[in-house]
Amino acid sequence: MARQLRGGFASRLGFILAAAGSAIGLGNIWKFPYITGENGGGAFLVIYLVTVFVIGFSIMMAELAIGRAAERNPVGAFSRLKGGAWVGVGYMGVLTGVIILSFYSVVGGWTIAYALKAISGQLAGGDAAALGGTFGGFIGDTAEPLVYHAIFMTLTCVVVGVGIGGGIERAAKVLMPLLLFLIVVLIVQVLSLPGAEAGISFFFSPDFSKVNGDTFIAAVGHAFFSLSLGMGTMLTYGSYLSRKVWLPTAAATVTVLDTLIAILAGMIILPAVFAFGIDPGAGPGLTFITLPAIFNQMPGGDWVAFAFFILLAVAALTSAVSLLEVVVAYFVDEKQVLRTRATMAAGVIIFLLGIPSSLSFGLLSDTTFFGTMTFFDVMDYLSSNILLPVGGILVAIFAAWIAWPRIIEEASGWEKSTFPLAGLWRIVLGVVAPVAVLLVLYHGL
Ligand code: PHE
Repeated sequence: MARQLRGGFASRLGFILAAAGSAIGLGNIWKFPYITGENGGGAFLVIYLVTVFVIGFSIMMAELAIGRAAERNPVGAFSRLKGGAWVGVGYMGVLTGVIILSFYSVVGGWTIAYALKAISGQLAGGDAAALGGTFGGFIGDTAEPLVYHAIFMTLTCVVVGVGIGGGIERAAKVLMPLLLFLIVVLIVQVLSLPGAEAGISFFFSPDFSKVNGDTFIAAVGHAFFSLSLGMGTMLTYGSYLSRKVWLPTAAATVTVLDTLIAILAGMIILPAVFAFGIDPGAGPGLTFITLPAIFNQMPGGDWVAFAFFILLAVAALTSAVSLLEVVVAYFVDEKQVLRTRATMAAGVIIFLLGIPSSLSFGLLSDTTFFGTMTFFDVMDYLSSNILLPVGGILVAIFAAWIAWPRIIEEASGWEKSTFPLAGLWRIVLGVVAPVAVLLVLYHGL
């Protein structure tokens, strides 16, 4: 009954693509390559992969199980399954969603701007240095990036306003495969550039002398960010999922797809970085500088660039939608607010919170906190490297120690009656993940 009133995914494939659509986004294509570059390459990749497959996968299953068991947004789910202080984990998730979306939408706006710049020829012809100047000039401007932030936020609101099956599911189904196709084309193109091999060995041969506490924090934080874990996104999507779907394969599919796209993105950006002589630690501009430089070497490059940035904008949109969905589901379920009204109100607030993040590259670039961090950096660090990991271990502890009987029943499913790795899963959730993540947070901070 509740399921029918709240709407739900029409098919298993639709759910997988929407969940993968949430996971795959700017995190994979924009953030992963540049933080891999900042953190020394291969060693970071190894730590990241271990975190993703041991801790990330386990917590993804836990979130899906909690969501489907409760059929609620994060706040409603914790109060239904347990109540008390645990409800706070749900509120923390809603707040984290607001924070992440505020700066995510700024970068999402950059992708739309870049699609339009590509098609109007503004990126054509320049080498990496000139493109670096173009990018710096664009994000340093006051008004232009804010206009695109507004456009991106509006699109996000439109999709969320339409509701789960109609908006999110349909968009994800068509566009995600197209993005994958274009990524593969670009890898082939990049690997033919002279000097590209240096990027491949930077990416795939780990140098553990470069590892320190910050490397671990960045890897763990990004594992949560990239898989959309620790704030109830997967929990909320799980709440719309039919009981016919077996959670272990669903979670594994999403985890593998997300990781695949991140590695493929790394295989485009990092070789290009070396081929064009850019500093791999150059930060958030990396993708926006290397990609246009690659397109400029291709026949019909403007069109390829246009297509790529549009698809990247769509990938960002399916992630942004999942962030906003957590906030909106909370107001719809708990406060009985109309979906459209909740969407509009949340959209405006998040847009406003994003303004200082957008200005962090221009007007406010000298306004720093904790030493050298801009407002944008603080929002990103706080949400990815602190709130998501903390939220994630609370979810893990909740699943393993507080609601285990209900969780294992949900993970085993009604049709196939067992999950063979249940014991191991519980140990990872109940012990390994909390201890490992706490150690990393403790040392890193
Ligand atoms: N996983 C998304 C990405 O990689 C971002 C995201 C984080 C989405 C947390 C939802 C929740 O771009």
